[in-house]
Amino acid sequence: MNILFIGDIVGQSGRSIVFNLLDRIKKEYNIDFVIANGENSAHGKGITTKIYNQLLACGVNCITLGNHAFSKLEILNNIDNLDCLVRPINLDREKDRGKGYRYFDVNGLRIGVINVMGNVFMYGVSVSPFEAIRKLLYEDKIKQRDKLDIIFVDIHAEATSEKIIFANYFKNQINVVVGTHTHIQTADERMIENTAYISDVGMCGAYNSIIGRDIDESIEAFVYKNKTHYTVAEGDAIFSAVVIEIDDLTKKTKNIKRIQIRP
Ligand SMILES: [Fe+2]
Ligand SMILES: [Fe+2]
Repeated sequence: MNILFIGDIVGQSGRSIVFNLLDRIKKEYNIDFVIANGENSAHGKGITTKIYNQLLACGVNCITLGNHAFSKLEILNNIDNLDCLVRPINLDREKDRGKGYRYFDVNGLRIGVINVMGNVFMYGVSVSPFEAIRKLLYEDKIKQRDKLDIIFVDIHAEATSEKIIFANYFKNQINVVVGTHTHIQTADERMIENTAYISDVGMCGAYNSIIGRDIDESIEAFVYKNKTHYTVAEGDAIFSAVVIEIDDLTKKTKNIKRIQIRP
């Protein structure tokens, strides 16, 4: 089985490149299941029900989020009906709304997809990712209780060290650990024993941008400390993703491959 994970989709240009490329990539890599991080899909911050539905209609099977999960409050009206949406399990905001993990049956294997936030350089996270996931794996014993074959974690975090520590701490217990949030793809994809890992998958969003945001506006905000609106950059997008190969018989992760397509 091959799982495609698509990094943070940022705004209109990010959505467009996913709509345009997904079919081709699914065929090329023989993809069985698609997960995408959609925390920036609605104008750079948050997601709406309409965009959630559009992403599913174009071939995404599961959508994870991050610190911007609830930047568009509209999503909260429907969140209990959005079966393919996974919110960060340890984000303090709206902590009782939505689900921090969801299960999917694919090719006879039951996959648990978990979204968790790092708490280094991040706001609104009072339970560490280690504590949150330890509870799921070792107290709730979700793998045994819910008969999971594969556990897939999107750790949405700023600090590379925190993500690498997370992957090493949970190696062999979690099949796949992918980092998101920085919007810049790292070249460190590897197997850590039986766990596929990458520090950050990178983004799908405007190539000429500051991690998806308008360049001039980012300079105004960072260099001159001027108050700005949040303007998403426009133009041709970069596409960033990884493909994880899982052996259907042994249920072991075999390989992780990076995809980066620049305009
Ligand atoms: Fe993001
Ligand atoms: Fe983020």
